[in-house]
Amino acid sequence: MPRQRYLVTSALPYANGPLHFGHIAGAYLPADIYVRYLRLAGEDVVYICGTDEHGVAATITALRENSTPRAVVDKYHEVIRRLFERFDISFDNFSRTTKPHHYTLSQEFFTKLNDKGLITKASEKQYYCPKDRMFLPDRYISGTCPKCGQENARGDECPRCGSWIDQMTLADPRCTLCGSVPELRETEHWFLRLDTLQPDLERWFGSKTDWKANVKSGPGGMLKEGLKPRAVTRDLDWGVPVPLPDAAGKVIYVWFDAPIGYISSTIEWAEKRGTPDEWKKYWCDPGTRLVHFIGKDNIVFHTLVFPAMLMGVGDYILPDNVPANEFYNYEGKKFSTSGKWYVEPERFFSRYPADVIRYVIAATMPENQDSEFRWKDFQTRNNSELADTLGNFINRALTFVVKNFEGRVPSPAALSERDRAMLESRAQATSRVGEAIAACTFRRAIEELMGFARECNRYFDERAPWKSRKDNPADCAAAMYVTVQLSLTLAALMRPFMPDSAKRTCVMLGAGDLVTSLDWAAGGTHLLPEGVALGTPEVLFRKIEDETIAEELALLREDEPAVATPAASSAPQPVQVPAQNGTSEIVYDDFSKVQLVVGQVQSAARKEGSDKLLRLEVDLGALGVRTILSGIAAHYAPEELAGRRVVVVANLKPRKMMGELSSGMILCAETPEGRLELVSPDKAAPAGSPVS
Ligand code: MF3
Ligand code: ZN
Repeated sequence: MPRQRYLVTSALPYANGPLHFGHIAGAYLPADIYVRYLRLAGEDVVYICGTDEHGVAATITALRENSTPRAVVDKYHEVIRRLFERFDISFDNFSRTTKPHHYTLSQEFFTKLNDKGLITKASEKQYYCPKDRMFLPDRYISGTCPKCGQENARGDECPRCGSWIDQMTLADPRCTLCGSVPELRETEHWFLRLDTLQPDLERWFGSKTDWKANVKSGPGGMLKEGLKPRAVTRDLDWGVPVPLPDAAGKVIYVWFDAPIGYISSTIEWAEKRGTPDEWKKYWCDPGTRLVHFIGKDNIVFHTLVFPAMLMGVGDYILPDNVPANEFYNYEGKKFSTSGKWYVEPERFFSRYPADVIRYVIAATMPENQDSEFRWKDFQTRNNSELADTLGNFINRALTFVVKNFEGRVPSPAALSERDRAMLESRAQATSRVGEAIAACTFRRAIEELMGFARECNRYFDERAPWKSRKDNPADCAAAMYVTVQLSLTLAALMRPFMPDSAKRTCVMLGAGDLVTSLDWAAGGTHLLPEGVALGTPEVLFRKIEDETIAEELALLREDEPAVATPAASSAPQPVQVPAQNGTSEIVYDDFSKVQLVVGQVQSAARKEGSDKLLRLEVDLGALGVRTILSGIAAHYAPEELAGRRVVVVANLKPRKMMGELSSGMILCAETPEGRLELVSPDKAAPAGSPVS
């Protein structure tokens, strides 16, 4: 069979912050499992990604971090690249949209569409902030989502329902920078004529009958309503300049240039290989299947806008599939790095192997509906599935062979019916797992893998080699011969999901070199020759103790806004005003319910078992001395606190933290870098003074 050619992409992440498991589950891990499988199945695959470095995601972050867009994207490009490495995501190329050849290509797209009349100029009213003296494109406006009512939705997409929002339809629009009400001003922009392209889009989109329902419904509805021209330029100074003489001060809209990044990254890949024209095979030859892995908030751009651009320019293929995932949450809430509701990757990878999180995310992937990561589930899947079922089988098999067969693949005199059936079942298991991956049903693929591991355990228990070892050595040799081959198949089946564990298993099987040649078909039929020396068996997956999980959960509770940092929500907070619960107003009566008083720290010590908490005894004057646990251990040494005057919320309901009651909360300011600074009275107000 000729090899099928694939160009697979994962959404280019904005280089404006660290990624979390939610991103990984949405667009990266599924794509990586998919391409690893395709490569093993002998197909011709190029897997492309990079960082999306333009747009307001970068400029607003620069303001927030008191930095420049250039510095922001340089920093986060590295952060994100390293994270992908730790997750073992196997991109063939990981580029950036700020590379010069990307500018050239984006401008070429723009010019071609403009020449064909598919981009036209028009004047429109745009939000403008009189205070910040600038137009407010995209996320510079926050407001209430017209579709789902989410407050603080961004002026380009809703973080909750994933809709693509026209800024003008946001209720209660505000300037994201200063929170003030914007005014409307006239400005000129260039519009992509989605209306002109609608008939072609409709025909093409309609032909995609095998796409996931969650991918079809949104764009289908928009096509029914009728597409309107959409502005593809912005009044910003960060981005790809609009290549027209009358467009000074305008840049190309980030959602226009970003998907072109898939192509420019492929061009870079081809150049690095020394075959600069090779990218064309992947983007222009209709024999190529183009597959975009994305999260649900990116659906419209990948199923309507980018295809419209590709159609309009011509010469390019269109996506064959867009397997978008729903959202992946964390212990009942949305992941949020700004709200600190996420798992810190450095810490995570210092405690757990990447393969385990790859496995758990794949097993709980939000394929058809939102799903979530839970520590308890992480523990159960690690302990009972990976350790007790998969790892234990391989370990039992190999230690038995080492002990009883001098560590060499046994020679079976004859194989029983059961032995042969078991050997043959390897091919079926392999194709079942493969088919599930090819269909992007990763949860099913994991179930098939684990189902086969259970069958292997059943076989081993039934054949009971520890009994036959004495009374029927030939029978024992046959069973162990098969058991070794089953382990090899398990190693092969692990490869797309858990590449490192697969490799370690191959090494234990004395087949380290096989790891490169053990392709998908061979995993089902390959036989380790009799007499081959095995390596040293070691434990593949370690169990995770209850206490470890309890620690993670305790840490998470500390991360709930116990100190006065911005609320754990992903809603954009005004940049310059002190960030507190967005823009919703309260009346004085609400404020006066909070009893704020000056406290004087009497003593401070580290809270045992916690990296974050300090245990403070704080004198509140007439209100007595309180024990307060405060999440400032990373920011203050206990010694520097005695005698300090701070501001305390005195009537906060006492809360148990790490097994101890904390009666009050100390106010801190948070710097743009995330450092906490104690808030103190200016001169001499003594302990117990009211603050209002
Ligand atoms: N940066 C966008 C996001 O994180 C995704 C861009 S995907 C691309 O939502 F197609 F534009 F590259
Ligand atoms: Zn403003």
